[in-house]
Amino acid sequence: MFYPTFRARRIRSKEVFRNMVRETALSTNDLIYPMFSAFGKGIRKEISSMPGIYQQSIENIVEEAQEAYELGVPAVILFGIPETKDAVGSDAYAEHGIIQETIRALKKEVPKLAVITDVCMCEYTDHGHCGIIKNGDVDNDETLELLAQEALSHAQAGADMVAPSDMMDGRVMAIRETLDNNGYKHIPVMSYAVKYASGYYGPFREAAESTPQFGDRRSYQMDPANRLEAVREAQMDVEEGADIIMVKPGLPYLDVVREMRNQFNLPVAVYNVSGEYSMIKAAGKMGWIDEDRVTMETMLSFKRAGADLILTYHAKEVATLLHKGY
Ligand code: PBG
Ligand code: ZN
Repeated sequence: MFYPTFRARRIRSKEVFRNMVRETALSTNDLIYPMFSAFGKGIRKEISSMPGIYQQSIENIVEEAQEAYELGVPAVILFGIPETKDAVGSDAYAEHGIIQETIRALKKEVPKLAVITDVCMCEYTDHGHCGIIKNGDVDNDETLELLAQEALSHAQAGADMVAPSDMMDGRVMAIRETLDNNGYKHIPVMSYAVKYASGYYGPFREAAESTPQFGDRRSYQMDPANRLEAVREAQMDVEEGADIIMVKPGLPYLDVVREMRNQFNLPVAVYNVSGEYSMIKAAGKMGWIDEDRVTMETMLSFKRAGADLILTYHAKEVATLLHKGY
């Protein structure tokens, strides 16, 4: 009979030991809660594929953001659903656009909550692409100018941080330069550095009403098969001045999160996207999984992969579970 000399089970045998040797921890400070701000009044419309997540008008955004803040969630990231869309996404950089007004209301009513804004054109263009269309495709350099204006208008409205998600080349530099030249040197840029062309964004496009009206996003978002390209993408953004680099989606790309952690000495964020949320919610509703447990295990997987920050629709639930001692 063979007896093992090393017994891994010894240190697992008591809860007190397990607590002592745990390698990763999740904190409410890691969470960023995405919210969808809609034009109008008295609006609170649930996204059918994302139970618990709503398109809301500003006063309701403020109310829910306050609730998130009281649960210990330090930051929200805002997406806007404007009253009108056009070819150049005018509302994205309008002084009184949907996001600009939402930022003002949040900074007034919940001043200590960090307000991060998604900087992109797809929610504001009538064609639903992330930039200006020329010859049937998104024109990189013309889009840069608009993204920089959008980021600047968010900063002017009081945003604490901007997060470009468009995947144009050179946008971090364009935004950094514009912010710096206009007195916003202190506003950090969280770059969606590594963003894949993913089927997991499906429910979000319902929530943000941002489905492309022709074609897809494969000419600007990354091929899911590529890991080395992710390092090149992030390298560019780091050189251009990104303060935080993000990987998106999350769960199917944990190897890429780890790659970012190993290659760069910057905070790493991961976006636990809409489709990931919907899958847990659906399976939970069916009674096929223990929803709370699977949610927390998913969050922990991001931390273990090396993420510092997690953008997640589960943020309020996670904060609640953490308070319960989960
Ligand atoms: C916009 C944007 C998208 C998401 C965040 N910003 C969608 C897209 O690129 O189509 C996805 C978020 C999610 O699925 O939760 N550029
Ligand atoms: Zn976009």
